[in-house]
Amino acid sequence: MENDYSTANIFKNEEAERNSKTELSESIRFDSAGYTYGKVDIINLQHIVQIYKGKKSDFVLFEDLNLDIKDFENMGQFVSIMGASGCGKSTILRYISGLQQPTQGKVLIYGKEKSEKETIPMVFQQYSSLPWKTVLDNIALPLLMKGVSKQESYEKAQDMIRIVGLTGHEHKWAKYPLLSGGQLQRVAIARNLIASPQILLMDEPFGALDITTRTNMQHTLLTIFNDDTLPDPTVIFVTHDIAEAVLLSNRIYIMAANPGRIHTIVDIDLPKGRDVSLKKSERLNEYVNYIDELMNSI
Ligand SMILES: Nc1ncnc2c1ncn2[C@@H]1O[C@H](COP(=O)(O)OP(=O)(O)O)[C@@H](O)[C@H]1O
Ligand SMILES: [Mg+2]
Repeated sequence: MENDYSTANIFKNEEAERNSKTELSESIRFDSAGYTYGKVDIINLQHIVQIYKGKKSDFVLFEDLNLDIKDFENMGQFVSIMGASGCGKSTILRYISGLQQPTQGKVLIYGKEKSEKETIPMVFQQYSSLPWKTVLDNIALPLLMKGVSKQESYEKAQDMIRIVGLTGHEHKWAKYPLLSGGQLQRVAIARNLIASPQILLMDEPFGALDITTRTNMQHTLLTIFNDDTLPDPTVIFVTHDIAEAVLLSNRIYIMAANPGRIHTIVDIDLPKGRDVSLKKSERLNEYVNYIDELMNSI
């Protein structure tokens, strides 16, 4: 399928500018790095129209939104979506999760129309754990609900607790202030990862955290993705923090508003095995400056 959005790469500034103006069809940087596409895209949003009914008039959020998230063989994907408040980022995640249907258009997940039954897990900015259950019970629950034995569920939950850095907090209630904001987000991430989902949605998950906690959470996410014993899901991540997006992502989709659409895609070509110390690097900051300028120009 032809894409009607543009692809940019920071080291091809002129081309990026031209692309974002003329909406060329996609050109793929990862191909030249030796990656190949999977046969089926992970996500296709096709000709999406979203109209929200208002009291006085209707609000057209999307007129013809198209978004493809490609599958790269043998490679976990981390995709960030950025754009001004109100451009439709959370609405897109709600389509993918199945929480909302567009007014018109198709939502395909691995090439199939989304069925009502499947839910794709989402981590929100607000804590989404069950406050009347312990940390351990919260994290084991998705496996128990899938019919996994009690013993295996709790063993895996203990592993996840270690991976997300909650050792020693297993038997606390998963609620504030018994756990801090950062710890509650760790519970949410562990709960959502334990059943090895193919796709994980994260809507400004660290938006409410202080800077130090936020950096710690970024470190935890990178640790999870660098851990070869865990399957890598495709993560679709919404953030307003450009450095966070660059640090974590393979690709960043930058949106424009009125109507909401994908304006530019930036491939982030940073080495594997990333670490938060990269945030100080010149290379990362070049990307940050580029995206900052781009977003200001939209
Ligand atoms: N259920 C709704 N009814 C009416 N307007 C809505 C509804 N949901 C979202 N909107 C509007 O659609 C726009 C996009 O919302 P959203 O997807 O949450 O944007 P973002 O996450 O990019 O900030 C906003 O202007 C918001 O007010
Ligand atoms: Mg939002």
